[in-house]
Amino acid sequence: MTDHPLSALPAWQALEKHASVLRDAHLRDLFAGDPDRFTRLSFGLGPLMVDYSKNRLTAETMGLLAELARARHVEEGRAAMFAGAHINTTEDRAVLHVALRNRATRPMMVDGVDVMVEVRGTRERLKTFAEAVRNGSWTGATGKKIAHIVNIGIGGSHLGPMFVADALKDHQSADLSVAFVSNPDRAQMDDVLKQLDPAATLFIVASKTFTTAETMFNANLARAWIVEKLGKDAVGRHFAAISTNLEAAAGFGIPGSNVFPMWDWVGGRYSVWSAIGLAVMIACGPDVFEQFLAGGEAMDRHFETASLDQNLPVILAMVGIWHADFFDAPAIAILPYDHRLRLLPSHLQQLDMESNGKSVQVDGRPVETQTGPIVFGGGGSDSQHSFFQLLHQSPRVIPCDFIGALKSTNEKGGDVASRDLLLANMFAQTEALMKGRAAADLAKMPPGLVPHRSFSGNRSSTTLLLEEVTPYALGMLIALYEHKVFVQGLVWGVNSFDQWGVELGKELAKSLQPAFAGGADTAAVLNSRDSSTAGLVTAYLKAKGLAEKASS
Ligand code: F6P
Repeated sequence: MTDHPLSALPAWQALEKHASVLRDAHLRDLFAGDPDRFTRLSFGLGPLMVDYSKNRLTAETMGLLAELARARHVEEGRAAMFAGAHINTTEDRAVLHVALRNRATRPMMVDGVDVMVEVRGTRERLKTFAEAVRNGSWTGATGKKIAHIVNIGIGGSHLGPMFVADALKDHQSADLSVAFVSNPDRAQMDDVLKQLDPAATLFIVASKTFTTAETMFNANLARAWIVEKLGKDAVGRHFAAISTNLEAAAGFGIPGSNVFPMWDWVGGRYSVWSAIGLAVMIACGPDVFEQFLAGGEAMDRHFETASLDQNLPVILAMVGIWHADFFDAPAIAILPYDHRLRLLPSHLQQLDMESNGKSVQVDGRPVETQTGPIVFGGGGSDSQHSFFQLLHQSPRVIPCDFIGALKSTNEKGGDVASRDLLLANMFAQTEALMKGRAAADLAKMPPGLVPHRSFSGNRSSTTLLLEEVTPYALGMLIALYEHKVFVQGLVWGVNSFDQWGVELGKELAKSLQPAFAGGADTAAVLNSRDSSTAGLVTAYLKAKGLAEKASS
């Protein structure tokens, strides 16, 4: 993986040379010079079509990038993941979220054990539980049918299921509402609770560790609410949990029958396929969830078996590396032009930035190049009227992923007008970014305005088109990005599966909290901090009426 410095590899050096030529090329000319450019640089896979022809690259670039992937042992890394090797080296864990969507009879091994036995068993338990909630055979403590599901989690235990539930809204049962609470600002929980009937509410506490401060805080709020409204004995009928920490879930008062396991070989940001997807399964039904898994599985088969140059996740990964490392692109914009995909940017933000926001390689040496990009974005239509200005005319060039669907699930009666408007705008934006508008085309413009009204163009974008946002296509899309991020991590030589960078802040928060009580610890905590942090704590103590503690 990291045997030779990246920049010393012949494939890297060939790409540098090639980039110096392409830096002077304009996408307009690349299209004009090759009528088959779209056919050459687009890729269809089931209900997914990916057009990467509007990136500043050629077929030669793609060949060189595939060479680089090969030289960085992407094939071996891929095989190691599917074989259950401990590729998450800093936590000494396998990385096997692909087992969660393995619907075939194929065994998947971790440390000599076929994990499919537990995966299948848990899937069956989840289906039974989800069906019981949906058909009313599982009721709340008073015998009322469950009508509200509230998922309590954060990070991967929140963003993934929230995105998927929202994307599959057209598949949700009309008699079930689903809400997601992550923020320990109790305003969020209060906003949700005031709309609910406690007797008809089921909380799902989703936490791999069952120790995450925000989630435990919110779970305790929810439990107190149920106890206040229905009594202590009601807790077991109004809570389910998903965790690797089964003891902690039991300690919280949730009976084993409603506690579903996950495993340390599933990373939080890759966990929507596991029991963490329970809210989706209840809201949309086990069959829909099964189709979602099938889409993920189809992408896994493609990723595992296709050659590097015909492999969609590898192609997207290498296009990203081309922009980040050879064109200094600091970021990528994720721009869904489908309301059902509006939460995709937040999900991908965690997936990508928590995975590849690293500055050391697997062996601890510093990375040699830029690694994961800043991932940002938002619904395409809204974003057009907010931050697209920068995408079109800033000196910073930011590659974009445009994601749309050819058909809408919610458009009734053949009214295609809204899709026309959406897709016209989406296609036009990719065209405008690519072509720009030359000063020569503004002959009638007052000369003073010409620099303002012209666009350089030559800005790269990739377009991903789904036939429709079906559960299957959605599964393919998410798995595509997961494998893309993994491949990029392999090329950069980083461990994409740990997240040590989030720990320091958690520790410091824990050590600050005693100061907020204004007890004996306050002065000690304040004295141990820098003047800025101590000043901020003091401001808060004053607001709490504990000012004298701050000055003692
Ligand atoms: O702090 C980051 C993180 O560990 C994420 O990786 C994870 O998705 C999130 O916190 C939530 O963790 P848990 O599911 O254990 O509550």
